[in-house]
Amino acid sequence: MTMKQKTVTVFGGTGFVGSQIIRELADRDFLVKVATRVPERAYDLKPCGFVGQIVPFACNYSDDHSIADAVKGSDYVVNCIGILFERGKRSTFKKAHVETPTAIAKACADQGVERFVHISALGCDAGISNYAKTKLEGEKAIREAFPAATILRPSVIFGQEDNFFNMFAHLARFVPFLPLIGGGKTKFQPVFVGDVADAAIYGLTEKTGKAKGKTYELGGPDIVDFKEIYQKLFKYTGRERSLVSLPFSLAKFEAMFLSLLPNPLLTPDQVESLKTDVIVADDALSFKDMDIHPKSMDIILPMYLKAYRAGGRFSKNFMKA
Ligand SMILES: NC(=O)c1ccc[n+]([C@@H]2O[C@H](COP(=O)([O-])OP(=O)(O)OC[C@H]3O[C@@H](n4cnc5c(N)ncnc54)[C@H](OP(=O)(O)O)[C@@H]3O)[C@@H](O)[C@H]2O)c1
Repeated sequence: MTMKQKTVTVFGGTGFVGSQIIRELADRDFLVKVATRVPERAYDLKPCGFVGQIVPFACNYSDDHSIADAVKGSDYVVNCIGILFERGKRSTFKKAHVETPTAIAKACADQGVERFVHISALGCDAGISNYAKTKLEGEKAIREAFPAATILRPSVIFGQEDNFFNMFAHLARFVPFLPLIGGGKTKFQPVFVGDVADAAIYGLTEKTGKAKGKTYELGGPDIVDFKEIYQKLFKYTGRERSLVSLPFSLAKFEAMFLSLLPNPLLTPDQVESLKTDVIVADDALSFKDMDIHPKSMDIILPMYLKAYRAGGRFSKNFMKA
């Protein structure tokens, strides 16, 4: 007797986290529907599975019927849609973090989906930025529409295609100094993208159902501030830069101009989010409750930061003590 393969729809599956989840789902023989606004962006994912295993599916996130079509026939659903900055009236935090996730959760409930995993953000319950506030509002709306959803709240995520270490490493190639916003005292607990993907798989497949209706906070083994993050960057690239303390008020003023760029390095809302620590609460459910052992930055960062080494990727004398 052959078991029916389970089908998973992944919204926002073309992104950094979504594509990692899809690679891991493919490894575990799931059939994957990549719900995306631009199916061509999902073509790169197709070779991660066998022929026909990973299927791009055009979806208009503003149309509930289109979302329902993407969910149709799926046993499981994962939502990875999220934005870091707003653009005009169509690309707002409210739309990406509240309205679209709520429509997905309702479609899951209407169609009897077994499991729904939603990626939120660590610190959203304490955050004062619009990013954080809308992430929390989205969580509440999802819980109402699909109470059994498993919600994951990761801290800043690192990995080969991240937008965090890669951005600073790229910047360090061109500038003599790097900013310590608000003195750089905000605490983070960076988490590896592969561990976040494992947590999503756990939420979908945990056999007893104990992940249903739960919220997990995801942080790696190291709690660091910005200075320590930069030190790791300097260590693995060999590009030591001066650090300049920048008060929040001044950073916000600069961010007003930077946010006009097509892909802004910093926005005033991101400066707000830097006022809150992003670490796992002592009483939160976390990796330990999933039997996942998160990897440290020191294992993963050298593998991809070597691309930024002073003297080139094969340079031998780049390492700082
Ligand atoms: N990366 C981190 O450090 C981090 C930390 C904490 C939480 N998170 C959360 O984790 C989730 C995944 O993050 P990620 O780093 O993978 O993000 P990402 O690479 O930017 O991908 C997010 C996905 O959201 C969709 N999207 C992008 N802009 C959109 C817009 N204007 N309107 C509607 N959909 C849009 C895209 O899907 P299509 O283009 O395929 O339609 C994209 O694939 C997000 O919810 C994010 O908030 C990330």
